[in-house]
Amino acid sequence: MSKKRKDDYGFETRMIHAGSQPEPITGARQTPIYQNTGYVFYDADHAASLFNLQTFGFIYSRLTNPTVAVLEERLANLEGGRGATGCASGHAAQLLTLFPLMEPGDEFIASNRLYGGSVTQFGKTFKKFDWQVRFVDVDDPENVRKALTPRTKAVFTESLANPGGVVSDLEALSKVAREAGIPLIVDNTLATPYLCRPIEWGADLIVHSTTKFLTGNGTVIGGAVVDSGKFDWAQNDKFGGLTQPEPAYHGLTFYESFGDMAYTTHAHAVGLRDLGPTMAPMNAFLTLLGIETLSLRMERHGQNAQKVAEFLEAHDEVAWVSYAGLTSSPYHALAKKYLGGSGGALFTFGVKGGYEAGVKVVESCELLSHLANIGDTRSLILHPASTTHRQLTDEQREAAGAGPDVVRLSIGLETVEDIIADLDQALKAAAQGRKAAE
Ligand SMILES: Cc1ncc(COP(=O)(O)O)c(C=O)c1O
Repeated sequence: MSKKRKDDYGFETRMIHAGSQPEPITGARQTPIYQNTGYVFYDADHAASLFNLQTFGFIYSRLTNPTVAVLEERLANLEGGRGATGCASGHAAQLLTLFPLMEPGDEFIASNRLYGGSVTQFGKTFKKFDWQVRFVDVDDPENVRKALTPRTKAVFTESLANPGGVVSDLEALSKVAREAGIPLIVDNTLATPYLCRPIEWGADLIVHSTTKFLTGNGTVIGGAVVDSGKFDWAQNDKFGGLTQPEPAYHGLTFYESFGDMAYTTHAHAVGLRDLGPTMAPMNAFLTLLGIETLSLRMERHGQNAQKVAEFLEAHDEVAWVSYAGLTSSPYHALAKKYLGGSGGALFTFGVKGGYEAGVKVVESCELLSHLANIGDTRSLILHPASTTHRQLTDEQREAAGAGPDVVRLSIGLETVEDIIADLDQALKAAAQGRKAAE
């Protein structure tokens, strides 16, 4: 049998093998946890060439670590990208993604239906760097075009948005970004590369909260940036961080020196070096373990979520369900195009009785855990208006699909009848409370 190139293997094979090989000295088959800070130089010349970025290798684990490097290569492979950068969290990945692109006073355009924490990070904290965000409804890509200014450096959206069952039209958005000469950044946390590979639809940079489905069991916080390696950073004068000489590296120009690895090299050599939100090796190890079963989990998450969504859609106490796997969803056609027809594991529904009923449902669940995470093997429930989306204005909450009656579910891998029975009794408890108050 001829030896296949690693990229020729199927997705499931690459989930398990990409980026890793048996440890050469001991033969250990599983990727070791290199719980280690510094790496011995062969001699002074070797050290100098590493520090000058003339040789690739390990210097100090804030920049690169062998366990994290396996995860980076695996994610780049699964997303169809050129390189990746592991980060301390999904939010750190968002900071690191924009960092090479933005100067004070620059702007980026973001979907107004992003995860609430991203809306706060972009709209409030990034303002302190004088990075300005313009939130628009990306359902109509013309809204993105209209928001462009000469200072716009990127467009940011989620492939499948948290929490509302909203799917972005990636192909249309990438066209607008390409025509403007700026990259399309896609948060692919909820879809994962198993359901959607945004680079195939024209996206340039992918961000992940690896905390969620990639790790898959609620154990570690982490994030990653994947670069497609396809964006021409020199096509205009917008991206000086990558195309102008870098004084900290003796005037080296990243794009000229590293070509399609420029962005990823910059993310490590400048982003992680100076901002410091590095992924811990133990976290990379646990995420690698999670990714080994990603396809199996995402299939079952989607199947369970579909059954729960259908049950809720027919329930008397439920006003509406927003799940892209349902034929009633306005995003069903996009889910077919970009997610293989799956709606993923996360969705929202509206409980009759508004805010109080939403809180009651969440508090009445016995099997589902009431907590602020998603993408666990366990089913999770949350009332966004009283928790994750509290900091937003009423208008932002509505735009994000997190109004007062909204309940968010992250459907896990338990026996689906058990999940449904728990939700049923919780909805009945909320209905009793509502009727007693009337
Ligand atoms: C879609 C999405 N992006 C980014 C983040 C931020 O990730 P982290 O919590 O790992 O910083 C989250 C967290 O919930 C998320 O759901």
